[in-house]
Amino acid sequence: MTKPRFTAAAAVIACTLGLTATGCTYGLQGTPETGKTMIFALDQAEDHPSYIALEAFSDRLEDATDGRWDIRVYPNAALGNQQETVQLVSEGSVDMVVASGTLLENLNRDFRTLALPLLYEDIDHQMAVLSDEEILGDLFTSLEEPNNLTVLGGFTQGERHVYTKNGPFTEPDDLNGQKIRVQESDLMIDMLSAMGSNPTPLSYAEVYTAIQSGVLDGAENNLISYMTTGHNVVAPHVALTAHQVGTDYVVINSEVFTGMTEEDRQTFLQEWQATVDHHTQMWVELTEEAADDAEAQGSTFTEVDQQAFTDGLAEMLEDELADPEVRELFDRIQNYEG
Ligand code: GCU
Repeated sequence: MTKPRFTAAAAVIACTLGLTATGCTYGLQGTPETGKTMIFALDQAEDHPSYIALEAFSDRLEDATDGRWDIRVYPNAALGNQQETVQLVSEGSVDMVVASGTLLENLNRDFRTLALPLLYEDIDHQMAVLSDEEILGDLFTSLEEPNNLTVLGGFTQGERHVYTKNGPFTEPDDLNGQKIRVQESDLMIDMLSAMGSNPTPLSYAEVYTAIQSGVLDGAENNLISYMTTGHNVVAPHVALTAHQVGTDYVVINSEVFTGMTEEDRQTFLQEWQATVDHHTQMWVELTEEAADDAEAQGSTFTEVDQQAFTDGLAEMLEDELADPEVRELFDRIQNYEG
């Protein structure tokens, strides 16, 4: 049986120009019986664990569904930045996307709560919470009705740290006036302001050049992304702020998801769970490797005055937690014992 297959770029262009007969409701056409090659938008490079885990997901899925379903991952933001590609998945011209939690904060405030600083103790805590429906309630299905987006679950982004062109620095005061790139998210702006810097929102793919040309003084991210984007070359001073254990959500167009046969959907979900485990396992190993590589290539790592940063973030948190619903979820997650 042949699966429908044409390039995502063609699909996106046809959609944008209004050339498809049905509009853009179901991405590449496929039926529950034939399955299809799902188009996946990713802003990471091919050596990032998300790309590696998703490629393996595709292979296992194709085997397990006798070739009906697989995934073609377009890395390096080839289909657009996250904000744009979440919209494309919602419209159906792209099937799946990895979206940072901070980008979903405007769609449901609970995603913002799950991205707050000082929430997760570590990755184990985070991943346990993200796989517990009892604690998350209907969070992962909450975007289906309004946005046609189903959240499958989360990939860890690990601990995020600040890195700069000039340095080293240890205190929030040292960041005063420094333009630090953040994701296009109010929460990240608030967070990096609370840490003393002058936060500047910009899409991920533009950060390297902005630091290189001096438009920005630095950025914040995990050590894996720091290395896979080459940010280490332009911003060699890493301050181990660990201000957030971030989450990426893997999101699928709801019609594609419900369009699978029940049997294929169960297979898909089983392989998805294996993908999360694979990703988390790689994350831990590759973070250590990234730190070693960064050091070997000349980056310096500085222990910061953690208390000084925590004090700033705690003040910001107080404002967030003034909303009783936010506090309730935050406390439930912080006190979570599995
Ligand atoms: C991490 C995360 C990405 C996100 C990026 C960013 O690398 O995994 O999903 O886009 O940070 O800072 O924009």
